[in-house]
Amino acid sequence: MKKLIIINGPNLNLLGKRETNIYGNLSFTEFFDTIVKKYPNVSLEYFQSNVEGELIDKIQEVGFSYDGIILNAAAYTHTSVGIGDAVKAITTPVIEVHISNTFSREEFRHQSYISPNARGVVLGFGLQSYELAINSFID
Ligand code: DQA
Repeated sequence: MKKLIIINGPNLNLLGKRETNIYGNLSFTEFFDTIVKKYPNVSLEYFQSNVEGELIDKIQEVGFSYDGIILNAAAYTHTSVGIGDAVKAITTPVIEVHISNTFSREEFRHQSYISPNARGVVLGFGLQSYELAINSFID
């Protein structure tokens, strides 16, 4: 059974309440429950933190043994050399995910410290971006 983890960065704990015109009305835990049921043959975990160092700790912890990391580093995507270096340091492949199309938004969201070392990037498909990333690991 493939072992995958979704790692979400800052403010993604507010999904369903936060800028719902951009991010939708569903909370991440509601969404996560549906995908756990939808992919019974995948071991799927979820971790969220608003703290940069905790995200780095989690990437290091899982990054040499899991089959895949689905990483939405949220705002840290555009600022964190440390998270970018963590993605580079590990052996587990990382798919970078964004709910919104960051390229259709402000200029500062066009930069990513994750992308150069990600296996792939999925963005702009709403919460479905996470499912497309999961599918890429199981196909
Ligand atoms: C986001 C896009 C980021 O620019 C933003 O800071 C987020 C969420 C997304 O999923 O669309 O918090 O990563």
